[in-house]
Amino acid sequence: MIRLTTAASIAALSLASAASAQTAQPWMNTKLSPDERAALLEKELTLDERIGLVHGPMSMPIFGIKKPEGAIGSAGYIPGISRLGVPALEESDASLGVTNPLGVRPGDGATALASGLSLAATFNTKLAYEGGAVVGREARAKGFNVQLAGGVNLARDPRNGRNFEYLGEDPWLAANLAAAQIRGIQDQGIVSTIKHFSLNGQETSRHFANSVIDEAAHRESDLLAFQIAIEKGQPGSVMCAYNLVNGDYSCGNPHLLKDVLKGDWGYKGWVMSDWGAVHATDYILKGLDQQSGEQLDAKIWFGEPLKAAVEKGEVPAARLADASRRILRSMFAAGLFDKPVTPGGAIDYDANAQIARAAATEGVVLLKNREGLLPLAKTAKTIAVIGGHADAGVLSGGGSSQVVPPGGAKRVVPLGGEGMMGPFRSQYFNGSSPLAAIRKAAPDAKVTFDDGRYVASAVAAAKAADIVVVFGNQWMGEGEDAFDLSLPNGQDELIAAVTAANPNAVVVLQTGGPVAMPWLNDAGAVVEAWYSGAKGGEAIADVLFGAVNPSGRLPMTFPASLSQYPREALPGRGLPEKTQFDVPYIEGADVGYRRFAVTGDKPLFPFGYGLSYTTFAYSNLKLEGGASVTVSFDVANTGRREGKDVPQVYLTGAAGKPLQRLIGFDKVSLKPGETRRVTVTADPRLLASFDAKGRRWVVTGGDYQVAVGASAADLALKGGAKVKARTLKP
Ligand code: BGC
Repeated sequence: MIRLTTAASIAALSLASAASAQTAQPWMNTKLSPDERAALLEKELTLDERIGLVHGPMSMPIFGIKKPEGAIGSAGYIPGISRLGVPALEESDASLGVTNPLGVRPGDGATALASGLSLAATFNTKLAYEGGAVVGREARAKGFNVQLAGGVNLARDPRNGRNFEYLGEDPWLAANLAAAQIRGIQDQGIVSTIKHFSLNGQETSRHFANSVIDEAAHRESDLLAFQIAIEKGQPGSVMCAYNLVNGDYSCGNPHLLKDVLKGDWGYKGWVMSDWGAVHATDYILKGLDQQSGEQLDAKIWFGEPLKAAVEKGEVPAARLADASRRILRSMFAAGLFDKPVTPGGAIDYDANAQIARAAATEGVVLLKNREGLLPLAKTAKTIAVIGGHADAGVLSGGGSSQVVPPGGAKRVVPLGGEGMMGPFRSQYFNGSSPLAAIRKAAPDAKVTFDDGRYVASAVAAAKAADIVVVFGNQWMGEGEDAFDLSLPNGQDELIAAVTAANPNAVVVLQTGGPVAMPWLNDAGAVVEAWYSGAKGGEAIADVLFGAVNPSGRLPMTFPASLSQYPREALPGRGLPEKTQFDVPYIEGADVGYRRFAVTGDKPLFPFGYGLSYTTFAYSNLKLEGGASVTVSFDVANTGRREGKDVPQVYLTGAAGKPLQRLIGFDKVSLKPGETRRVTVTADPRLLASFDAKGRRWVVTGGDYQVAVGASAADLALKGGAKVKARTLKP
C-alpha cells in the first residue's frame, strides 16, 4: 500500500515536472505541428545561436582537419544548443549504408547495401523502403540523426562516376525508389536528405561544370524526379549540388532554390549545401539555408561574415530566422526532439545483411542466356572461376558513399591518385566471396580459381572446365568519370579469350553503369550484378544456380556505343583545372531510352530489359481516359518456374506528339500458369508538358497512346485513350 502511494506520487511528480518543462519549453508540446513548434523555439534563439545552426564543419580527419569536439565522426556536424534542448546534427553519408569515412570511428562497420543502380534494377519500392530502414536503424544505433541519402540525379551519361549511387535514367522510377528509401530512413526517426539538386550529371570538374538546360525540359526530367520524390518521401533536407545550373551555382541559384523548390513546390525543409559548394555569404539570400562541410569552402561564409551581414542589415534578420526555423522544423518532423538519438544501440548485422541480400539478388539482371545455360546444373563436374577478385568478395563503388562492412573490407586494392578524392581511391571488396558461394552451391563440383592476370593461364583454366564463370569489374568512384565503356585493365581482352575458349562461359559484370561488351557474341550467358553489397557473393550464386529466378531489369540503357549519346566527348575533359565550361543538355527531357525513341538508334540492351528463367505474356489491355490514363492488363507466367516480372507501361504518343515515357510499372510474383491483373494510373504530369512561361503543367488533351511491354524496346500491347485537356500547378 505504502509502495503504491509512493509510486503514485512519483508518477504525479514526474507528470507535473513534464508539464512545467512543457510550459518552460512550449515547443515540446507534441500536439502542436512541426511548424508551430519550430516557430516557438526559433523565437528563443539569439543571433549567435541562429548563426550556429546554419553552418558546420566536416567531421572526418582529412587534410590535417581534426574531428570537431562533440562530433561522433562522419560527414558533418552542426553543434546543438543545450540551453534549449536542441540536439546537435550528426550527419553521415548513407546512399548505400552508414559510412565511416577514412576510418574516423576506428573499427566501426555498417551493412553495405547494393548500389543504387542495383536497387533501381529491382523496380521494387518495398526493397527500397527496407534498405532505407536498415540505414535508419543503424544510424540511430550509432548516434547519427541526419542521413545524406536520396541521390536522385538522372543518369544522363553512362560514364558518370556516381551513376552507381543513383537510381537510373527515368524520373518516375528514380523518384518512387528514392521516396521509399527516404521514408524507410525517416520512419526510424532520422532526417534524410535528397540530393544533389540539380543536374549533377557528371563528376569531371564537377565544381566548374555549368549544366545548361531548357527550363521546360528540366521540369520534365531531373526536376520531376526531385519533385515527386519530395512529395512522396518528405525528406527533411535537400542538398544542393557542386555544379552550376544555367549560369548560377546550384547552392546560390535563386531560381532553383527560391522559385522552384520553396516557391512552386512549397518545400518546408532546409537546403544544405554539398561539402565545399558555397562561394559567398549572399547564398543565404538566394535560398541556401545551411553551409555544410565548411572547411572545404574558401570561407566560413555562414559564420562571422553572415553575422556581420545581418548586423549591417545586408541580410534581413527574418531570412536568417527562416533558415533556422526550416532546420528546426525538419528536426521536429523527423522526431529528433521527441525520440532523441543516442549512440550505443544494438545492431542485428546478420538480419540486416539478409535484407541487403534479398535486394541485391533481385537487382541482378540476366542479360543473355544461350540455350538455357543458366541456371547452372548442380551436376557440373568442373567450374573455372576467373578474375574479379572473386576469391575475396564483391566490388563496391568509391567516394563518400563507400561503406566499410563490420570487421572491415575483405580486400582493399588502392588505386592511388592525387587531389581531393585521392584518399578515397581504393577498390573495396565486401567479404562475400562469389567463389565460396559457388563452391557451396555446387558441393560436388571441382571449382578452380584463376585470378585472371595472365590471359593464357585463364584460357587454360577455361578449357579444362565444363563451365566458366568469368568476372568483369569496373570500379567507379566519386570525383571522376569512366574514360569510356570498356572494362579496365584489359579485362575485355581476358573475357574475349575465355569466352572464345569455352562456349559455356558465364560473364558476371560488377560495374557502376553500362559497358560495351565486345565479347558478347561469344559469351554463353551474361549477368549484370552491379556492386552487390554485404551478401553479393551469395546473391550472384543464388541467380547462377537458380535458387532465385532473376527479376532485375535495366534501370538505364546500355548503349551500343558512346556515339549514341549527345555528348560523345565528355565536356570539361582535358581543360585546364578550374576552367568553367558548359555541359549542354541538348537532349532536354529525353534522357536515356526517351532519346533512343527519338533517334531510333538501337542500344546494346534497352532500358527495362532483363531475362528470367520463366516466360511472361501480357494480354487484355484496357484503357480508360479522362483526367489521366488508367491502364489495366493481365500478366501471365507462361513458363515452368515461379518468377517475378516487371511489366512496364509507356506513354508513346501525346495528342499527336510521338514520345516515350515510363508512366507506370509493377513487380509481380507469379507461379507457373498464374495470371494477375495489373492496373496503373499515370501521374498526370507524365502526360503533360511544362509551360515555362505560364509556370504550369499543360495536358493538351486528345488521343494519348500507351503501350505495355517487357522493356522500352519490347512493347507487346498497344492502345489509346482520350485525355481531357487540363492544366496543373507547377
Ligand atoms: C558528396 C555528397 C556527400 C558529401 C558529404 C560530397 O563530396 O558530393 O554526396 O554527402 O560529400 O560526405
